[in-house]
Amino acid sequence: MSGNEEPRVLGFLCNWCAYAGADLAGVSRLQLPANFCVIRTMCSARTEPLFLFKALLGGMDGVLVAGCHPGDCHYQRGNYFTRRRLVMVQEILKALNMEHERVRLHWISASECSLYQKVLTEFIEDLKGMERNVARDEVFL
Ligand code: FES
Repeated sequence: MSGNEEPRVLGFLCNWCAYAGADLAGVSRLQLPANFCVIRTMCSARTEPLFLFKALLGGMDGVLVAGCHPGDCHYQRGNYFTRRRLVMVQEILKALNMEHERVRLHWISASECSLYQKVLTEFIEDLKGMERNVARDEVFL
């Protein structure tokens, strides 16, 4: 990413785990990137592929989906569906010649605030190494 621009990242966080982990990170006063917007979902499976494409086309540089660890989903198999969908989305991004690493999936429990911080920080660092999302210019000019 050129200059001093910070990548913009959107996160879809499951209410029961990753969102609670994000909340704990805030309460614990962990240093977190400011350029990250959160949408709370009741399960990671609520994150439809269309949401991810719309976020990228809307100018987000990256999208993080975070849910409960396998076996811990409150809706039993929701996160397994999420995992399959994310693989499909990444394959479509590759076919479109876009960096599939712009969309990521992580399992983060409610107590893993340090992991939340690490995942977010590393994601934003990786995005800084990529070209900026061209959709960003078209949306915000
Ligand atoms: S309830 Fe958290 S991933 Fe399904």
